[in-house]
Amino acid sequence: MKFFIDTANLKEIQEAQDLGVLDGVTTNPSLMAKEGISGKNNILKHYKAICAIVDGDVSAEVIATDYEGMIREGEELAELDEKIVVKIPMIKDGVKALRYFSEKGIKTNCTLIFSAGQALLAAKAGASYVSPFIGRLDDISYDGIQLIEQIRTIFDNYGFDTEILAASVRHPIHILKCAEIGADVMTGPLSAITALLKHPLTDLGLEKFLADYAKTNK
Ligand code: G3P
Repeated sequence: MKFFIDTANLKEIQEAQDLGVLDGVTTNPSLMAKEGISGKNNILKHYKAICAIVDGDVSAEVIATDYEGMIREGEELAELDEKIVVKIPMIKDGVKALRYFSEKGIKTNCTLIFSAGQALLAAKAGASYVSPFIGRLDDISYDGIQLIEQIRTIFDNYGFDTEILAASVRHPIHILKCAEIGADVMTGPLSAITALLKHPLTDLGLEKFLADYAKTNK
């Protein structure tokens, strides 16, 4: 399973990259706003800065919600760097835009997926990735993990190339469940990734090893 980090924070992206487990980055307009990035030029500059750090796909989301606008913005984003994946919302014009970009060989990530039907439609339109938001489903008492399972079954039944990018991942158990099911990618915060390395027995064990070494190596 590929590990993407879901942030526009350059420091966190660098930290994940330095850890040696990072396969890509996902951003969205809220994450860009959180970093105080505004204005078209600054936004484009920031995407380029992210691409300079990471060795892999970088999702950049269009703001337009009409077909022509999405095409215009998506083409401009794709020209920034070959790592850019154009992120398109799951709406009617978005589905048409997915088909357009797929035919042009530009990678896409269909975002705001909350049902298997939406994922199937995006895959048929040629999306490179679909992003089911598992945390936001859990938030309203739907089972986000079950949705990943359902999409996995459908994509495997028909051999779709579209990758399942489990998004809105909030904690390490989400990551493990996605890995068990066979999500192709998960995107989450740095805290969820680094939480994977923690275990109290590891800390206790290391403490004892070092104490025993110190006793005999004075
Ligand atoms: O990038 C989209 C998704 O990962 C958002 O996550 O935590 O805002 O639901 P969250």
